[in-house]
Amino acid sequence: MTAEPSTGAAPRPAPAAGGATVGSGAGTPILRTEGLTVRFGGLTALNNVSLEVPRGEIRAIIGPNGAGKSTFFNCLTGVLRPTSGHVRLNGEDVTGLPPNRISQKGIARSYQVTNILPNATTLENVRIAAQSRRHSWALLTHHRAYRDILDKAETALEAVGLRGKADELAANLSHGEQRNLEIGIALATEPQLLCLDEPTAGMSAAETPTPCSWSAASPRI
Ligand SMILES: Nc1ncnc2c1ncn2[C@@H]1O[C@H](COP(=O)(O)OP(=O)(O)O)[C@@H](O)[C@H]1O
Ligand SMILES: [Mg+2]
Repeated sequence: MTAEPSTGAAPRPAPAAGGATVGSGAGTPILRTEGLTVRFGGLTALNNVSLEVPRGEIRAIIGPNGAGKSTFFNCLTGVLRPTSGHVRLNGEDVTGLPPNRISQKGIARSYQVTNILPNATTLENVRIAAQSRRHSWALLTHHRAYRDILDKAETALEAVGLRGKADELAANLSHGEQRNLEIGIALATEPQLLCLDEPTAGMSAAETPTPCSWSAASPRI
């Protein structure tokens, strides 16, 4: 993948080194990549990808198999460290942070191959994700927060149409429901930026929700 228009998002030139600072202003893009490059030995999977995603916008990354889409998401979310270049979230350089730190900073993702806890219930899957946002493990505080965590988990399930399957083992859900559960897990972490890697892979048109239903649900969580 290169910074050509095949990324689906408007490529911008990278700023001069040190030019960007942490920002919360309306003008600061939620995501900015600068010259993102990943090489696997002799293969360049990402070649100097610089793009911006403004807050509140939905963008698509398109390209044929092997174009580098998953590699791009892996760099954004700390699964891969880029060979060179930078990832900025709200202006903050998050390049190369481990996945748990990136998640805490507000980037959530789904994977191309479904990534859920099959032996936990649907509700437990999203509850664990919601719980990851509560930092206190003091017993009393934790007990008081539990109802709030459950509410957030149930709201996330509602957003992806799985409220009625809360007590079902995740392994027993259909493929499409499992894909939606993974998005529910991502939403339950209350992300600022949601990255979906081929979210409708293997799903029929009837199983495919509109992106608007996810984004409209997100602010309530
Ligand atoms: N861990 C890896 N090691 C070596 N090559 C990889 C690795 N991950 C991806 N690639 C290669 O990088 C290229 C881009 O892959 P990928 O990002 O999965 O593309 P896409 O998601 O657009 O189908 C492919 O040629 C793929 O074989
Ligand atoms: Mg892929």
